Amino acid sequence: MIKIIRVRDYDDMSRKAANIIAAQVVLNPESKLGLATGSSPVGTYKNLIAANEAGDVDFSHVVTYNLDEYRGLPRTNDQSYYYFMNENLFDHVNIDKANTHVPNGENPDADDECATYEAAVRALGGMDLQLLGLGRNGHIGFNEPADDFAATTHCVDLTESTIEANKRFFASADDVPRQAYTMGIGTIMCAKKILVVVSGADKAEALKAAVYGPVTPQLPASILQFHQDVTIVADEAALSLCPEA
Ligand code: F6R
Repeated sequence: MIKIIRVRDYDDMSRKAANIIAAQVVLNPESKLGLATGSSPVGTYKNLIAANEAGDVDFSHVVTYNLDEYRGLPRTNDQSYYYFMNENLFDHVNIDKANTHVPNGENPDADDECATYEAAVRALGGMDLQLLGLGRNGHIGFNEPADDFAATTHCVDLTESTIEANKRFFASADDVPRQAYTMGIGTIMCAKKILVVVSGADKAEALKAAVYGPVTPQLPASILQFHQDVTIVADEAALSLCPEA
């Protein structure tokens, strides 16, 4: 079941999403959180940092698993998702870094990396709460539109549209890695709760299709319609094609 929380703008989205995550951690201090990178969750992480500083949320027993990582990008590269997570969250809260996990893009053995990561997530029984952003083409994690839903953590070739969308973070489109390791749709769907943050008019088509369209691997986020506990926090611009929501 999908619950939509309509909010004013990015800041409003970020506060509300952070409150949901904070509540999760307050209720279960040993929560396993699935985390995302990209622009959508940055504000959420800022609010979580503030809540941690205020003493409202304690990350000391929290365990995290990130959705994805570029293949072949060193962890020291400021565009790696490992770097991003430290920069935007882990360095600023009282989390034990040993409890944080990002697929290792530096492992050239894709089968080994993906199988190890998948086994670790499954051993925990999936995430207690999985945070997601939404790609403009409806991707979640790096699960791009495809003929099938990928069940497990795997190595993907990024689509031109994703390379195009992500090139803003690199010197040029040529510098964007062409592959990534990502949790599969099956891995994501193992989460007990899923929280999606969506902001901006450029996400409106994908959001409408994800919530109201047919469930199809051509729009990977549409699979969320089959999950029992999904909350989407989306702003007016992102919901502009969903007037009823
Ligand atoms: C990032 C991720 C991606 C992003 C998506 C939206 O870990 O898994 O699916 O959530 O590409 O990116 P932004 O938030 O930058 O629009």
